[in-house]
Amino acid sequence: MNIKKIGVLGAGTMGAGIAQVSVQAGYSVILIDVVPEIVEKAVDGLNKAWTKAVEKGKATAETVANYKAQLIASTDINDFKDVDIVIEAIVENIDIKKKVQKQLGEICKADAILATNTSALSITEIAAATNRPDKVLGMHFFNPASVMKLVEVIPGVVTTNDVVQTVIELSKKIGKEPVLAKESPGFIVNRILVPYINEAANVFYEGIATAAEIDKAMKLGAGMPMGPLELADLVGIDIILAVCEFFVKEFADSKYRPSLAFKQKVRAGHLGKKTGKGFYDYIK
Ligand code: CAA
Ligand code: NAD
Repeated sequence: MNIKKIGVLGAGTMGAGIAQVSVQAGYSVILIDVVPEIVEKAVDGLNKAWTKAVEKGKATAETVANYKAQLIASTDINDFKDVDIVIEAIVENIDIKKKVQKQLGEICKADAILATNTSALSITEIAAATNRPDKVLGMHFFNPASVMKLVEVIPGVVTTNDVVQTVIELSKKIGKEPVLAKESPGFIVNRILVPYINEAANVFYEGIATAAEIDKAMKLGAGMPMGPLELADLVGIDIILAVCEFFVKEFADSKYRPSLAFKQKVRAGHLGKKTGKGFYDYIK
């Protein structure tokens, strides 16, 4: 299938970055969120990133004018009716994802692909909620989506090979390196990365060191580009907690038990960078 028009659902941390790389690769993009302020914030952020690119000599004013013309922002999911693929990047909740993917199946044209950027959930379960499980798959980007090169491509049980190949090609065209993964909780990266971040939160909760010391230790002692708790704040503590909880449920193994530090912070609304507070304070 030849992808020309891309729909991105959810204009939060991930959706905005996915829309950015898709536009920059020359695609027409419709970016939709239910919250108008989030759509405005995302478009504003993209415009700022493109202005910065012109100032740095990384893009011309003409290129940026084209980017802006390629991007449509909306709050009406019906605007996806003629897209070739939707990349869904909404809240990490299986019931909401199933409901919304079912709705996408009813709105989108019959051959459109429905991709989900879920961090860990079952692609097969999401696919089964739609009228086209053979055209549903995981297309998992990494944060910041405009920078990180990887896309995990995860077929569900009945996803066709054509759909998988189309999404592998699309990932390459938007400048990413696709890696194929079988369906399993957290796929490759999050199966390994989330327990590491969880253990760092346990070290914090036990008072062994401060967040800054833990992050410094992992950067200087293990060569990490950023510390695990800064990373939790970047990803969103709600998302890390949701992934840990899914691992416990799916593997029935207490080794994945989420740190109480995550629970406490989520209860307080301290989700990380996106709310201004997490392991660190971004408002001060
Ligand atoms: N959003 C957008 N762009 C960002 C950014 C952000 N949050 N942070 C940095 N950048 C951009 C900068 O603008 C800069 O771009 P230019 O080169 O065009 O100027 C570029 O990234 C490099 O930035 P810096 O030189 O300031 O910083 P750096 O070299 O330290 O790199 C980093 C920043 C790429 C974020 C690096 O620290 C890193 O790789 N961190 C680890 C990120 C990671 O592990 N991500 C995966 C999280 S798990 C996940 O995403 C899956 C999931 O399901 C939860
Ligand atoms: P986020 O909270 O920043 O944004 C989610 C957005 O979805 C919000 O703006 C919300 O208004 C919107 N939304 C919720 N329900 C909606 C609906 N029915 N229709 C349209 N929009 C709706 O979350 P995020 O960090 O961007 O994560 C989105 C997805 O991507 C999740 O599945 C997450 O697990 C996954 N993911 C996140 C990261 C990360 O580092 N944050 C990395 C890879 C994958």
